[in-house]
Amino acid sequence: MEWFENEALWVDFSDVLFSAGRAEEARARVASSPLLRVPAGSAVLDLGCGPGAYAIPLAERGAEVTGVDLSAALLERAETGASDAGVELRLVRADMREFAEPDRFDLAISMYTSFGLFADHDENMRVLRNVLASLKPGGRLLIDLYGKEILARDGGLPKIIDIEGGTLIVRGTILGDWERFRDDFILVRGDRARTAFVEHTLYSAFELKTMLVEAGFTDVECFGGFDAEPFDNHARRLIVRGSRGPVAS
Ligand SMILES: C[S@@+](CC[C@H](N)C(=O)[O-])C[C@H]1O[C@@H](n2cnc3c(N)ncnc32)[C@H](O)[C@@H]1O
Repeated sequence: MEWFENEALWVDFSDVLFSAGRAEEARARVASSPLLRVPAGSAVLDLGCGPGAYAIPLAERGAEVTGVDLSAALLERAETGASDAGVELRLVRADMREFAEPDRFDLAISMYTSFGLFADHDENMRVLRNVLASLKPGGRLLIDLYGKEILARDGGLPKIIDIEGGTLIVRGTILGDWERFRDDFILVRGDRARTAFVEHTLYSAFELKTMLVEAGFTDVECFGGFDAEPFDNHARRLIVRGSRGPVAS
């Protein structure tokens, strides 16, 4: 079994990985970020949508959102969250390596390091090609992740975090020659401890940009945060955007 197929991870660690605070942060970004601005009625694909932190506020702003995820438990959370918010999401349980719906979407998003999950480079490239085919001409892809430069500057030290009813210990490990990153979690509640881990490929801005170009995206550019600030030494996220041919103005 691959790590992301472990439903226990998404169920047991759901409130840690997808806290109310994170959902609020996503909602604020959708409200203010020029990178996430879409006209009402736009068809948006949220690839690896999880519990819908971005899908739900995008739908609230009038987008027609398709959320794709492999985890049945997280899709269920997305469904409940959407119905609580009074919006509809089209939710599809699929593997992003297989999902493609030609010429359908104006915008595709991959948020919170949902890209680069596969150890095999070709599989990550396949995801990009699927997205390109799924965009309408002029449609855009936006990838947000924890980039290599940011990890080298800020990351690495183990963290002990107080959470409601317990303690979370997080320890990151760089794998290979800065090829992949693994985060191990230990969650202690009362006398019970649970462990889990997530893993992803580590990309520099240049590496990710090169992959988008190789997959056939045009106008590929990087940003260092959701205000579309440059990807420089102050960057907080690695955000890469590319389009399928010229963007309609
Ligand atoms: C780090 S979470 C991010 C979730 C969401 N984008 C967010 O911002 O909260 C990564 C997501 O990718 C999903 N995922 C992992 N492997 C997948 C695959 N092969 N195909 C589709 N989704 C996958 C997980 O179930 C999880 O929801």
